[in-house]
Amino acid sequence: MENETLTITDNRTQKAYTVPIFRGTIRAMDLRQIKTDPEDFGLMTYDPAFMNTASCQSAITYLDGEKGILRYRGYPIEQLAEHCTFLEVAYLLLNGDLPTKDELDTWNYDVMRHSMIHENLKKFMDGFHHDAHPMGILLSTVAALSTFYPDGRAVNDAKYRRKQVVRLIGKMPTLAAYAYRHRLGRPYIYPDPELCYTKNYMNMLWKRTEPNYVANPVLARALEVLFILHADHEQNCSTSAMRVVGSSNADPYATTAAAISALWGPLHGGANEEVLRMLDEIGSKDRIPAFIEEVKEGHRKLMGFGHRVYKNYDPRARIIKQVAEEVFEVTGRNPKIDIALELEKIALNDEYFVKRRLYPNVDFYSGIIYQAMGFNPDQFTVLFGIPRTVGWLAQWQEMMSDTDKKIARPRQIYIGEEKRDFVPLTLREHKHELVGV
Ligand code: ACO
Repeated sequence: MENETLTITDNRTQKAYTVPIFRGTIRAMDLRQIKTDPEDFGLMTYDPAFMNTASCQSAITYLDGEKGILRYRGYPIEQLAEHCTFLEVAYLLLNGDLPTKDELDTWNYDVMRHSMIHENLKKFMDGFHHDAHPMGILLSTVAALSTFYPDGRAVNDAKYRRKQVVRLIGKMPTLAAYAYRHRLGRPYIYPDPELCYTKNYMNMLWKRTEPNYVANPVLARALEVLFILHADHEQNCSTSAMRVVGSSNADPYATTAAAISALWGPLHGGANEEVLRMLDEIGSKDRIPAFIEEVKEGHRKLMGFGHRVYKNYDPRARIIKQVAEEVFEVTGRNPKIDIALELEKIALNDEYFVKRRLYPNVDFYSGIIYQAMGFNPDQFTVLFGIPRTVGWLAQWQEMMSDTDKKIARPRQIYIGEEKRDFVPLTLREHKHELVGV
Protein backbone atom coordinates (compact mmCIF):
# COMPACT_ATOMS: atom_id res chain seq x y z
CA MET A 1 0.00 0.00 0.00
CA GLU A 2 1.26 3.52 -0.81
CA ASN A 3 1.74 6.07 1.94
CA GLU A 4 2.45 3.38 4.48
CA THR A 5 4.37 5.88 6.55
CA LEU A 6 3.95 7.83 9.74
CA THR A 7 4.99 11.44 10.11
CA ILE A 8 5.88 12.55 13.61
CA THR A 9 6.42 16.17 14.60
CA ASP A 10 8.69 16.73 17.56
CA ASN A 11 7.17 19.74 19.30
CA ARG A 12 10.41 20.28 21.19
CA THR A 13 12.28 21.10 17.97
CA GLN A 14 9.44 21.54 15.42
CA LYS A 15 11.20 18.94 13.24
CA ALA A 16 9.15 16.35 11.36
CA TYR A 17 10.24 12.75 10.80
CA THR A 18 8.70 10.21 8.47
CA VAL A 19 9.06 6.55 9.36
CA PRO A 20 7.81 3.50 7.45
CA ILE A 21 4.81 1.50 8.67
CA PHE A 22 5.33 -2.23 8.21
CA ARG A 23 2.46 -4.64 8.86
CA GLY A 24 0.78 -2.17 11.19
CA THR A 25 3.91 -1.44 13.20
CA ILE A 26 6.71 1.06 13.23
CA ARG A 27 10.23 0.07 14.14
CA ALA A 28 11.14 1.41 17.56
CA MET A 29 14.69 1.95 16.29
CA ASP A 30 13.34 4.45 13.74
CA LEU A 31 12.50 6.71 16.68
CA ARG A 32 16.12 6.91 17.78
CA GLN A 33 16.82 9.58 15.15
CA ILE A 34 14.41 11.94 16.99
CA LYS A 35 16.72 14.06 19.11
CA THR A 36 16.75 17.52 20.64
CA ASP A 37 20.49 17.91 19.94
CA PRO A 38 23.33 15.67 18.72
CA GLU A 39 24.19 14.68 22.32
CA ASP A 40 20.65 13.47 22.97
CA PHE A 41 20.34 9.64 23.02
CA GLY A 42 17.19 9.75 20.88
CA LEU A 43 13.59 8.80 21.52
CA MET A 44 12.67 5.36 22.90
CA THR A 45 9.30 3.73 23.58
CA TYR A 46 8.18 2.83 27.11
CA ASP A 47 6.06 -0.32 27.16
CA PRO A 48 6.12 -2.22 30.47
CA ALA A 49 4.86 -5.78 30.01
CA PHE A 50 5.02 -5.34 26.21
CA MET A 51 1.36 -4.35 26.03
CA ASN A 52 1.74 -2.93 22.51
CA THR A 53 5.09 -4.14 21.26
CA ALA A 54 5.64 -6.89 18.68
CA SER A 55 8.89 -8.61 19.68
CA CYS A 56 9.18 -10.76 16.56
CA GLN A 57 7.60 -11.82 13.30
CA SER A 58 6.14 -15.29 13.51
CA ALA A 59 4.38 -17.63 11.09
CA ILE A 60 3.29 -20.17 13.71
CA THR A 61 0.13 -19.13 15.54
CA TYR A 62 -2.53 -16.60 14.60
CA LEU A 63 -4.64 -15.19 17.38
CA ASP A 64 -7.41 -12.59 17.15
CA GLY A 65 -8.37 -11.84 20.72
CA GLU A 66 -11.21 -9.51 19.75
CA LYS A 67 -12.95 -12.18 17.69
CA GLY A 68 -11.85 -15.19 19.74
CA ILE A 69 -9.93 -16.85 16.87
CA LEU A 70 -6.97 -19.21 17.27
CA ARG A 71 -5.18 -20.91 14.38
CA TYR A 72 -2.01 -22.98 14.18
CA ARG A 73 -0.23 -22.45 10.86
CA GLY A 74 -3.55 -21.26 9.42
CA TYR A 75 -5.68 -24.18 10.61
CA PRO A 76 -8.53 -23.34 13.02
CA ILE A 77 -7.95 -24.85 16.45
CA GLU A 78 -11.43 -26.40 16.40
CA GLN A 79 -10.57 -28.48 13.29
CA LEU A 80 -7.22 -29.60 14.64
CA ALA A 81 -8.76 -30.58 17.98
CA GLU A 82 -11.39 -32.63 16.18
CA HIS A 83 -9.26 -34.44 13.63
CA CYS A 84 -5.63 -34.63 14.73
CA THR A 85 -3.39 -36.42 17.14
CA PHE A 86 -1.17 -34.34 19.38
CA LEU A 87 2.02 -35.39 17.60
CA GLU A 88 0.45 -34.54 14.23
CA VAL A 89 -0.19 -31.02 15.54
CA ALA A 90 3.32 -30.90 16.98
CA TYR A 91 4.69 -31.70 13.51
CA LEU A 92 2.53 -28.97 12.03
CA LEU A 93 3.71 -26.35 14.53
CA LEU A 94 7.36 -27.27 14.08
CA ASN A 95 7.41 -27.75 10.32
CA GLY A 96 4.67 -25.52 8.96
CA ASP A 97 2.51 -28.18 7.30
CA LEU A 98 0.53 -31.21 8.35
CA PRO A 99 2.55 -34.41 7.81
CA THR A 100 1.85 -37.00 5.15
CA LYS A 101 1.25 -40.55 6.39
CA ASP A 102 4.94 -41.47 5.97
CA GLU A 103 6.13 -38.28 7.59
CA LEU A 104 3.82 -38.83 10.53
CA ASP A 105 4.95 -42.44 10.99
CA THR A 106 8.60 -41.37 11.01
CA TRP A 107 7.87 -38.48 13.36
CA ASN A 108 5.92 -40.68 15.81
CA TYR A 109 8.73 -43.23 15.74
CA ASP A 110 11.43 -40.60 16.31
CA VAL A 111 9.66 -38.92 19.22
CA MET A 112 8.78 -42.18 20.97
CA ARG A 113 12.32 -43.52 20.42
CA HIS A 114 13.59 -40.54 22.42
CA SER A 115 11.21 -40.99 25.32
CA MET A 116 13.73 -42.75 27.58
CA ILE A 117 15.79 -40.79 30.05
CA HIS A 118 19.29 -41.48 31.36
CA GLU A 119 19.29 -43.67 34.49
CA ASN A 120 21.24 -40.99 36.37
CA LEU A 121 18.29 -38.67 36.00
CA LYS A 122 16.29 -41.08 38.12
CA LYS A 123 18.84 -40.64 40.90
CA PHE A 124 18.57 -36.91 40.49
CA MET A 125 14.80 -37.25 40.79
CA ASP A 126 15.20 -39.29 43.98
CA GLY A 127 16.93 -36.35 45.64
CA PHE A 128 13.72 -34.34 45.76
CA HIS A 129 11.67 -34.26 48.91
CA HIS A 130 8.55 -36.47 48.79
CA ASP A 131 6.22 -33.47 48.64
CA ALA A 132 8.26 -31.40 46.16
CA HIS A 133 6.02 -29.54 43.71
CA PRO A 134 6.06 -31.41 40.38
CA MET A 135 6.71 -28.17 38.47
CA GLY A 136 9.84 -27.62 40.54
CA ILE A 137 10.95 -31.15 39.70
CA LEU A 138 10.11 -30.73 36.03
CA LEU A 139 11.97 -27.49 35.52
CA SER A 140 15.05 -28.78 37.38
CA THR A 141 15.20 -32.07 35.52
CA VAL A 142 14.68 -30.40 32.14
CA ALA A 143 17.57 -28.05 32.98
CA ALA A 144 19.61 -31.09 34.06
CA LEU A 145 19.11 -32.65 30.61
CA SER A 146 21.59 -30.09 29.29
CA THR A 147 24.34 -31.88 31.24
CA PHE A 148 23.50 -35.15 29.48
CA TYR A 149 23.37 -33.71 25.97
CA PRO A 150 26.28 -31.31 25.48
CA ASP A 151 25.56 -31.31 21.72
CA GLY A 152 22.55 -29.20 22.68
CA ARG A 153 24.89 -26.24 22.77
CA ALA A 154 25.31 -26.40 18.98
CA VAL A 155 22.34 -24.09 18.67
CA ASN A 156 23.43 -22.59 15.37
CA ASP A 157 23.27 -25.94 13.60
CA ALA A 158 19.76 -26.80 12.38
CA LYS A 159 20.50 -30.54 12.46
CA TYR A 160 21.47 -30.44 16.14
CA ARG A 161 18.59 -28.16 16.97
CA ARG A 162 16.19 -30.67 15.50
CA LYS A 163 17.74 -33.46 17.53
CA GLN A 164 17.18 -31.61 20.83
CA VAL A 165 13.62 -30.78 19.77
CA VAL A 166 12.80 -34.46 19.30
CA ARG A 167 14.56 -35.37 22.55
CA LEU A 168 12.71 -32.78 24.58
CA ILE A 169 9.27 -33.61 23.19
CA GLY A 170 9.96 -37.32 23.71
CA LYS A 171 11.22 -36.95 27.28
CA MET A 172 8.76 -34.46 28.74
CA PRO A 173 6.03 -37.04 29.55
CA THR A 174 8.64 -39.35 31.06
CA LEU A 175 10.03 -36.65 33.35
CA ALA A 176 6.51 -35.58 34.30
CA ALA A 177 5.42 -39.14 35.05
CA TYR A 178 8.55 -39.86 37.08
CA ALA A 179 7.96 -36.69 39.10
CA TYR A 180 4.43 -37.93 39.80
CA ARG A 181 5.49 -41.42 40.84
CA HIS A 182 8.37 -40.13 42.93
CA ARG A 183 5.85 -38.34 45.04
CA LEU A 184 3.77 -41.48 45.55
CA GLY A 185 6.82 -43.62 46.18
CA ARG A 186 5.90 -45.89 43.29
CA PRO A 187 8.55 -47.45 41.01
CA TYR A 188 9.12 -45.62 37.75
CA ILE A 189 7.60 -47.15 34.63
CA TYR A 190 9.73 -47.07 31.51
CA PRO A 191 8.19 -45.51 28.41
CA ASP A 192 6.59 -47.84 25.91
CA PRO A 193 7.28 -46.68 22.34
CA GLU A 194 4.59 -49.02 21.02
CA LEU A 195 1.95 -46.75 22.57
CA CYS A 196 0.86 -43.34 21.32
CA TYR A 197 2.10 -40.20 23.07
CA THR A 198 -0.79 -39.79 25.51
CA LYS A 199 -1.38 -43.48 26.21
CA ASN A 200 2.30 -43.92 26.92
CA TYR A 201 2.14 -41.03 29.37
CA MET A 202 -0.93 -42.52 31.08
CA ASN A 203 0.82 -45.87 31.25
CA MET A 204 3.86 -44.32 32.95
CA LEU A 205 1.57 -42.52 35.40
CA TRP A 206 -0.91 -45.15 36.38
CA LYS A 207 0.39 -48.65 35.63
CA ARG A 208 0.54 -50.72 38.78
CA THR A 209 0.98 -54.49 38.96
CA GLU A 210 -1.15 -55.41 35.96
CA PRO A 211 0.94 -56.83 33.06
CA ASN A 212 -0.62 -54.39 30.59
CA TYR A 213 -2.18 -51.14 31.64
CA VAL A 214 -4.91 -50.19 29.17
CA ALA A 215 -5.74 -46.50 29.06
CA ASN A 216 -9.40 -45.63 28.70
CA PRO A 217 -9.71 -44.47 25.05
CA VAL A 218 -12.11 -41.61 25.88
CA LEU A 219 -9.75 -40.26 28.53
CA ALA A 220 -6.72 -40.73 26.28
CA ARG A 221 -8.49 -38.81 23.51
CA ALA A 222 -9.51 -36.08 25.98
CA LEU A 223 -5.87 -35.71 27.04
CA GLU A 224 -4.86 -35.59 23.37
CA VAL A 225 -7.34 -32.76 22.73
CA LEU A 226 -6.20 -30.87 25.82
CA PHE A 227 -2.60 -31.23 24.68
CA ILE A 228 -3.52 -29.89 21.22
CA LEU A 229 -5.27 -26.87 22.76
CA HIS A 230 -2.25 -26.07 24.92
CA ALA A 231 0.44 -26.62 22.29
CA ASP A 232 1.08 -23.00 21.35
CA HIS A 233 -0.29 -19.54 21.98
CA GLU A 234 2.15 -17.16 20.28
CA GLN A 235 4.07 -14.63 22.39
CA ASN A 236 2.69 -15.34 25.88
CA CYS A 237 4.81 -14.98 29.02
CA SER A 238 6.53 -18.38 28.89
CA THR A 239 7.12 -18.26 25.12
CA SER A 240 8.61 -14.81 25.48
CA ALA A 241 10.86 -16.20 28.25
CA MET A 242 11.86 -18.95 25.80
CA ARG A 243 12.75 -16.43 23.13
CA VAL A 244 14.55 -14.06 25.50
CA VAL A 245 16.68 -16.76 27.10
CA GLY A 246 17.22 -18.55 23.77
CA SER A 247 18.35 -15.30 22.19
CA SER A 248 21.59 -15.53 24.21
CA ASN A 249 22.24 -18.88 22.44
CA ALA A 250 21.75 -20.81 25.70
CA ASP A 251 21.04 -24.48 24.97
CA PRO A 252 17.39 -25.51 24.53
CA TYR A 253 17.25 -27.46 27.81
CA ALA A 254 18.25 -24.46 29.92
CA THR A 255 16.01 -22.31 27.76
CA THR A 256 13.00 -24.61 28.13
CA ALA A 257 13.57 -24.70 31.90
CA ALA A 258 13.25 -20.90 31.87
CA ALA A 259 9.98 -21.15 29.95
CA ILE A 260 8.68 -23.74 32.44
CA SER A 261 9.51 -21.34 35.27
CA ALA A 262 7.49 -18.59 33.62
CA LEU A 263 4.60 -20.98 33.01
CA TRP A 264 4.47 -21.94 36.67
CA GLY A 265 3.31 -18.49 37.81
CA PRO A 266 -0.34 -18.27 38.92
CA LEU A 267 -1.03 -15.44 36.46
CA HIS A 268 -0.02 -17.76 33.61
CA GLY A 269 -0.16 -21.58 33.46
CA GLY A 270 -0.26 -21.89 37.24
CA ALA A 271 -3.79 -20.47 37.09
CA ASN A 272 -5.32 -23.92 36.45
CA GLU A 273 -4.14 -25.10 39.87
CA GLU A 274 -5.42 -21.90 41.45
CA VAL A 275 -8.85 -22.32 39.83
CA LEU A 276 -9.32 -25.66 41.57
CA ARG A 277 -8.24 -24.23 44.90
CA MET A 278 -10.68 -21.36 44.37
CA LEU A 279 -13.56 -23.71 43.53
CA ASP A 280 -12.72 -25.77 46.62
CA GLU A 281 -12.80 -22.65 48.71
CA ILE A 282 -16.15 -21.51 47.29
CA GLY A 283 -17.47 -24.98 47.99
CA SER A 284 -21.09 -24.51 46.94
CA LYS A 285 -23.19 -22.43 44.56
CA ASP A 286 -24.80 -20.35 47.29
CA ARG A 287 -21.40 -18.92 48.22
CA ILE A 288 -20.68 -17.63 44.73
CA PRO A 289 -22.31 -14.17 45.11
CA ALA A 290 -20.21 -13.40 48.21
CA PHE A 291 -17.08 -14.52 46.37
CA ILE A 292 -17.92 -12.37 43.34
CA GLU A 293 -18.35 -9.38 45.66
CA GLU A 294 -14.88 -9.96 47.08
CA VAL A 295 -13.49 -10.01 43.54
CA LYS A 296 -15.30 -6.81 42.61
CA GLU A 297 -14.01 -5.09 45.74
CA GLY A 298 -10.51 -5.92 44.50
CA HIS A 299 -9.63 -8.36 47.31
CA ARG A 300 -9.43 -11.39 45.01
CA LYS A 301 -9.09 -12.41 41.41
CA LEU A 302 -11.45 -14.73 39.67
CA MET A 303 -8.80 -17.22 38.60
CA GLY A 304 -9.21 -18.64 35.11
CA PHE A 305 -10.85 -15.43 33.96
CA GLY A 306 -9.36 -12.66 31.87
CA HIS A 307 -6.61 -12.67 29.30
CA ARG A 308 -4.14 -10.15 27.97
CA VAL A 309 -5.17 -10.84 24.38
CA TYR A 310 -8.63 -12.43 24.44
CA LYS A 311 -11.31 -9.85 25.01
CA ASN A 312 -13.87 -12.39 23.91
CA TYR A 313 -14.55 -16.03 24.81
CA ASP A 314 -11.30 -18.03 24.65
CA PRO A 315 -12.01 -20.60 21.89
CA ARG A 316 -10.01 -23.19 23.83
CA ALA A 317 -12.30 -22.82 26.86
CA ARG A 318 -15.29 -23.54 24.60
CA ILE A 319 -13.75 -26.82 23.37
CA ILE A 320 -12.65 -27.79 26.89
CA LYS A 321 -16.20 -27.41 28.15
CA GLN A 322 -17.32 -30.00 25.61
CA VAL A 323 -14.46 -32.34 26.47
CA ALA A 324 -15.45 -32.09 30.14
CA GLU A 325 -18.85 -33.61 29.41
CA GLU A 326 -17.24 -36.52 27.50
CA VAL A 327 -14.83 -37.18 30.34
CA PHE A 328 -17.60 -37.12 32.96
CA GLU A 329 -19.42 -39.84 30.98
CA VAL A 330 -16.51 -42.08 31.99
CA THR A 331 -15.42 -40.72 35.34
CA GLY A 332 -18.68 -39.46 36.76
CA ARG A 333 -19.43 -35.78 37.11
CA ASN A 334 -16.94 -33.64 39.00
CA PRO A 335 -19.28 -31.52 41.15
CA LYS A 336 -16.95 -28.56 40.72
CA ILE A 337 -18.13 -28.18 37.14
CA ASP A 338 -21.50 -27.00 38.39
CA ILE A 339 -19.90 -24.37 40.60
CA ALA A 340 -17.72 -23.30 37.66
CA LEU A 341 -20.67 -23.09 35.26
CA GLU A 342 -22.66 -21.02 37.73
CA LEU A 343 -19.65 -18.81 38.41
CA GLU A 344 -19.26 -18.25 34.67
CA LYS A 345 -22.96 -17.46 34.25
CA ILE A 346 -22.94 -14.91 37.04
CA ALA A 347 -19.65 -13.33 35.98
CA LEU A 348 -20.64 -13.01 32.32
CA ASN A 349 -23.72 -11.05 33.31
CA ASP A 350 -22.06 -8.84 35.86
CA GLU A 351 -21.20 -5.28 34.90
CA TYR A 352 -17.70 -5.55 36.50
CA PHE A 353 -16.67 -8.43 34.20
CA VAL A 354 -18.61 -7.22 31.16
CA LYS A 355 -17.01 -3.76 31.30
CA ARG A 356 -13.53 -5.22 31.57
CA ARG A 357 -14.26 -7.89 28.96
CA LEU A 358 -13.25 -10.73 31.25
CA TYR A 359 -14.15 -14.18 29.90
CA PRO A 360 -13.14 -17.69 30.97
CA ASN A 361 -9.69 -18.59 29.67
CA VAL A 362 -8.15 -21.99 28.91
CA ASP A 363 -7.43 -22.62 32.59
CA PHE A 364 -10.95 -22.19 33.88
CA TYR A 365 -12.24 -25.66 32.97
CA SER A 366 -9.09 -27.72 32.31
CA GLY A 367 -8.36 -28.45 35.98
CA ILE A 368 -11.86 -29.80 36.55
CA ILE A 369 -11.28 -32.36 33.80
CA TYR A 370 -7.83 -33.22 35.04
CA GLN A 371 -9.12 -33.75 38.53
CA ALA A 372 -11.89 -36.03 37.26
CA MET A 373 -9.22 -38.02 35.42
CA GLY A 374 -7.31 -38.54 38.67
CA PHE A 375 -4.70 -35.78 38.67
CA ASN A 376 -3.92 -33.68 41.74
CA PRO A 377 -4.09 -29.89 41.36
CA ASP A 378 -0.32 -29.48 41.60
CA GLN A 379 -0.06 -31.70 38.52
CA PHE A 380 -2.16 -29.39 36.34
CA THR A 381 0.54 -26.98 35.25
CA VAL A 382 2.76 -29.93 34.34
CA LEU A 383 -0.06 -31.04 32.02
CA PHE A 384 0.17 -27.62 30.43
CA GLY A 385 3.96 -27.70 30.18
CA ILE A 386 4.21 -31.03 28.33
CA PRO A 387 2.33 -29.88 25.21
CA ARG A 388 3.50 -26.26 25.44
CA THR A 389 7.06 -27.54 25.05
CA VAL A 390 6.18 -28.05 21.39
CA GLY A 391 5.14 -24.42 21.00
CA TRP A 392 8.22 -23.17 22.85
CA LEU A 393 10.47 -25.24 20.62
CA ALA A 394 8.68 -24.21 17.43
CA GLN A 395 9.12 -20.57 18.43
CA TRP A 396 12.74 -21.17 19.41
CA GLN A 397 13.51 -22.85 16.07
CA GLU A 398 11.84 -20.00 14.24
CA MET A 399 13.84 -17.44 16.18
CA MET A 400 17.14 -19.25 15.68
CA SER A 401 16.77 -19.07 11.89
CA ASP A 402 15.41 -15.52 11.84
CA THR A 403 17.79 -13.05 10.21
CA ASP A 404 16.45 -10.36 12.60
CA LYS A 405 17.56 -12.39 15.65
CA LYS A 406 19.70 -10.55 18.17
CA ILE A 407 20.22 -11.03 21.88
CA ALA A 408 17.16 -9.66 23.71
CA ARG A 409 18.21 -6.64 25.65
CA PRO A 410 15.52 -4.07 26.48
CA ARG A 411 16.24 -0.51 27.51
CA GLN A 412 15.17 1.20 30.71
CA ILE A 413 14.30 4.67 31.92
CA TYR A 414 16.70 5.25 34.78
CA ILE A 415 14.91 6.88 37.72
CA GLY A 416 17.56 6.33 40.42
CA GLU A 417 20.02 8.61 42.20
CA GLU A 418 22.32 11.00 40.40
CA LYS A 419 26.04 10.34 40.88
CA ARG A 420 26.98 10.49 44.59
CA ASP A 421 30.15 9.80 46.53
CA PHE A 422 30.83 6.74 48.66
CA VAL A 423 30.08 7.12 52.41
CA PRO A 424 32.15 5.04 54.89
CA LEU A 425 30.14 2.56 57.00
CA THR A 426 30.56 4.49 60.25
CA LEU A 427 29.19 7.71 58.75
CA ARG A 428 26.05 6.28 57.11
CA GLU A 429 22.65 7.40 58.38
CA HIS A 430 19.91 4.94 59.23
CA LYS A 431 17.26 5.31 56.46
CA HIS A 432 15.39 2.02 56.28
CA GLU A 433 13.35 0.13 58.82
CA LEU A 434 15.15 -2.97 60.09
CA VAL A 435 13.11 -6.01 59.11
CA GLY A 436 14.31 -9.50 59.85
CA VAL A 437 13.41 -12.35 57.55
N1 ACO B 1 -10.55 -11.31 38.21
C1 ACO B 1 -10.94 -10.04 38.56
N2 ACO B 1 -10.55 -8.93 37.92
C2 ACO B 1 -9.71 -9.09 36.89
C3 ACO B 1 -9.27 -10.37 36.45
C4 ACO B 1 -9.73 -11.49 37.17
N3 ACO B 1 -9.34 -12.72 36.79
N4 ACO B 1 -8.45 -10.22 35.38
C5 ACO B 1 -8.37 -8.92 35.17
N5 ACO B 1 -9.14 -8.23 36.06
C6 ACO B 1 -9.37 -6.77 36.12
C7 ACO B 1 -8.16 -6.05 36.67
O1 ACO B 1 -8.22 -5.94 38.07
C8 ACO B 1 -8.25 -4.74 35.95
O2 ACO B 1 -9.24 -3.97 36.57
P1 ACO B 1 -9.09 -2.37 36.71
O3 ACO B 1 -9.12 -1.86 35.29
O4 ACO B 1 -10.24 -1.93 37.53
O5 ACO B 1 -7.76 -2.15 37.38
C9 ACO B 1 -8.78 -5.12 34.57
O6 ACO B 1 -9.53 -6.33 34.78
C10 ACO B 1 -7.70 -5.37 33.53
O7 ACO B 1 -6.84 -6.36 34.03
P2 ACO B 1 -5.28 -6.37 33.82
O8 ACO B 1 -4.64 -7.04 35.01
O9 ACO B 1 -4.78 -5.01 33.44
O10 ACO B 1 -5.17 -7.29 32.55
P3 ACO B 1 -3.85 -7.96 32.02
O11 ACO B 1 -4.02 -8.13 30.56
O12 ACO B 1 -2.64 -7.26 32.49
O13 ACO B 1 -3.82 -9.40 32.77
C11 ACO B 1 -4.30 -11.66 33.28
C12 ACO B 1 -4.26 -10.57 32.18
C13 ACO B 1 -2.94 -11.70 34.00
C14 ACO B 1 -4.51 -13.01 32.61
C15 ACO B 1 -5.44 -11.33 34.27
O14 ACO B 1 -6.68 -11.31 33.59
C16 ACO B 1 -5.49 -12.31 35.43
O15 ACO B 1 -4.75 -12.13 36.41
N6 ACO B 1 -6.35 -13.38 35.35
C17 ACO B 1 -6.40 -14.37 36.41
C18 ACO B 1 -5.26 -15.36 36.26
C19 ACO B 1 -5.45 -16.28 35.09
O16 ACO B 1 -6.51 -16.88 34.90
N7 ACO B 1 -4.37 -16.44 34.31
C20 ACO B 1 -4.36 -17.35 33.16
C21 ACO B 1 -4.35 -16.59 31.87
S1 ACO B 1 -4.39 -17.70 30.51
C22 ACO B 1 -2.81 -18.30 30.43
O17 ACO B 1 -1.85 -17.67 30.80
C23 ACO B 1 -2.62 -19.61 29.91
